[in-house]
Amino acid sequence: KNIVILISGTGSNMAAIVQAARQQKWSERLGARVAAVISNRPDAKGLLFAREQGIATAVVDHTAHASREAFDAALAQAVDAHRPALVALAGFMRVLTPGFVARYAGRLLNIHPSLLPAFAGLHTHQRALDEGCKVAGATVHQVTAQLDHGQILAQAAVPVLPDDTAETLAARVLTQEHLIYPQAIARLLAAQQEAAVRDRTQ
Ligand code: GRF
Repeated sequence: KNIVILISGTGSNMAAIVQAARQQKWSERLGARVAAVISNRPDAKGLLFAREQGIATAVVDHTAHASREAFDAALAQAVDAHRPALVALAGFMRVLTPGFVARYAGRLLNIHPSLLPAFAGLHTHQRALDEGCKVAGATVHQVTAQLDHGQILAQAAVPVLPDDTAETLAARVLTQEHLIYPQAIARLLAAQQEAAVRDRTQ
């Protein structure tokens, strides 16, 4: 089963997934592998990491498409080339059209740097600080047409410290993202595998 990861920048979540797949032997245990890393930004640093790991990469540059729909169609074409069992958005900074989301319904995940449903959208850490939150965190969720809302698969909470800035809080949350995203993906792949075995044995 192929996993395709979509990035826009550093790709630290993508790297965490790639490393978990190797260290936890997903190919042997789950029959799954990270087949491709695709970015909407040609300069995304995560592309360099993926290439170093021997993982196929592609760029679908959103500035090269006249409309959101045209970009999403080109993106789906690049994604489908790898026949993904799972598409993971990891620091992917594009709002996807309902058509794209529907195409991958049930196998499209995202990681969001807040404890959803709190703080959907951008600048989540500064907003949590502004509200005086005492805890913050990250959420892995199924992607639906409504931005940052969809079935929650995993969450991790971190303390907000009195002298936190958005940067110090972001770093603490990011560490947790790197743990819960690979775990959530492995759990979903295992569930897909069990379902496939059940279907075959019935
Ligand atoms: C980070 O803000 C992270 O919280 C969010 O996307 C941004 C970039 O992540 N998920 P990455 O390092 O590109 O995975």
